[in-house]
Amino acid sequence: MRESIIIVEDEKIVRISLADALKAEGYAVLTVADGETALSALEEGEFSLVISDIRLPGLSGVDVLKKSLSESPSTPVIVMTAYGNIKDAVETMRLGAFDYITKPFDLDEMLITVNKALEVESITRENIRLRKELRSYYGAPNIIGESKAMKAIYALLEKISRTESTVLILGESGTGKELIASTIHYQSSRKDNPIIRVNCAALPEDLIESELFGYEKGAFTGAVAKKPGRFDLADGGSIFLDEIGDLPPLTQTKILRVLEERTFERLGATDTVSVDVRIIAATNKKLEREVQKGRFREDLYYRLNVIPIELPPLRKRKTDVPLLINSFNSRLNDQMGTDVSFSPETVDILMNYSFPGNVRELLNIVERCIALTNYKMVKPFDLPPHVVKARQEKTLLSTLQTITADAEKEHIVRILKLTEGNRTKSAEILGISRKTLWEKINTHQLDL
Ligand SMILES: Nc1ncnc2c1ncn2[C@@H]1O[C@H](COP(=O)(O)OP(=O)(O)OP(=O)(O)O)[C@@H](O)[C@H]1O
Ligand SMILES: [Mg+2]
Repeated sequence: MRESIIIVEDEKIVRISLADALKAEGYAVLTVADGETALSALEEGEFSLVISDIRLPGLSGVDVLKKSLSESPSTPVIVMTAYGNIKDAVETMRLGAFDYITKPFDLDEMLITVNKALEVESITRENIRLRKELRSYYGAPNIIGESKAMKAIYALLEKISRTESTVLILGESGTGKELIASTIHYQSSRKDNPIIRVNCAALPEDLIESELFGYEKGAFTGAVAKKPGRFDLADGGSIFLDEIGDLPPLTQTKILRVLEERTFERLGATDTVSVDVRIIAATNKKLEREVQKGRFREDLYYRLNVIPIELPPLRKRKTDVPLLINSFNSRLNDQMGTDVSFSPETVDILMNYSFPGNVRELLNIVERCIALTNYKMVKPFDLPPHVVKARQEKTLLSTLQTITADAEKEHIVRILKLTEGNRTKSAEILGISRKTLWEKINTHQLDL
């Protein structure tokens, strides 16, 4: 693609000679003579570079600059100004112009500036593209965590990305099942096609089938037009069957067929539709138990369970807690324009909290702390009361255990002294077996 440049200049001679010089260099050039025309041209077209005079009849070069920056912030703007009006030029630089050139100028000097601007523009554009790509590659925020458990998950994901197999993601609420599902999709060869999510728990039972498989016009009262189902929409991509443990029995049967044959029928249709989808399912239920209780079809379970991924609860990977806090904290600081950090003591309390709501709960806690703290540093008293309470209970419990242990140790020592170290007699007096006594001597490290 040839790079296109727009020149905004009311002086005809300057406009034409500059346009000719740029055309000779191989650029596509559009020339306009006033600000109004320039603004509508910027609205309609996309340019790699804007070169504009500052003093124009009607709207000024500053208006052109502002318009260009709002339409396309990464497009550089070079302003031209008559000698003696440098102040205006400096002002435009402050507003975001790339550079300024004083008139009369040397064409070579102008070309050097143009080339420099276009180089910067292409780097900026490349960066934006890469960033977008990176975002769509992961689809969602990156997965945070360096614990052994998470490393094992990454290794599994790496392998999965090279296959087409059905994946079943298991884990408590808030452990990141949806995040993992979208990562699997965006790391697969299907990443340029959509991932369609179906929340099996939120769909009313009588609507699930029409949602999943679509319907023909007239299939039922109210079906005024043909409607594609989620499986149609996911063709070529992935379908994410979230909360699959909550699927009603009849739909389980239908899903099983799609899994086995990759075909289904629309409601009210006679022909069979084939789809090319990768199936990713997730649930926070213990599916095996659901199968035992007869609530989940065993054959469907085995179909889904080709590659199971079990996400560990956050309390089993405590070392990830500080990493997650850091990541959420900097993301939220960016979003809210704040500059808050977490004190080490607060992080320590959180590391020892049990997180029944897992990563989602931690995210909510971090957000709440940043919003509510009066200081730049989040302290333990900024934490939600139930987190602090859990910590206090834990400390009290361990204190009680220490007190009991100390008393027990003292008592055993006394009895052993009394019996002059006779363990059989001591055990008898203490009312415990010899073996138990021996164990207690060991645990209390009684050096006899
Ligand atoms: N390892 C992680 N790194 C970064 N963010 C995470 C991680 N795990 C989860 N999250 C974030 O925590 C939140 C909850 O995750 P997600 O929705 O994927 O959980 P879930 O297992 O699907 O929960 P539920 O069972 O309640 O649907 C999301 O905002 C997600 O981005
Ligand atoms: Mg989920």
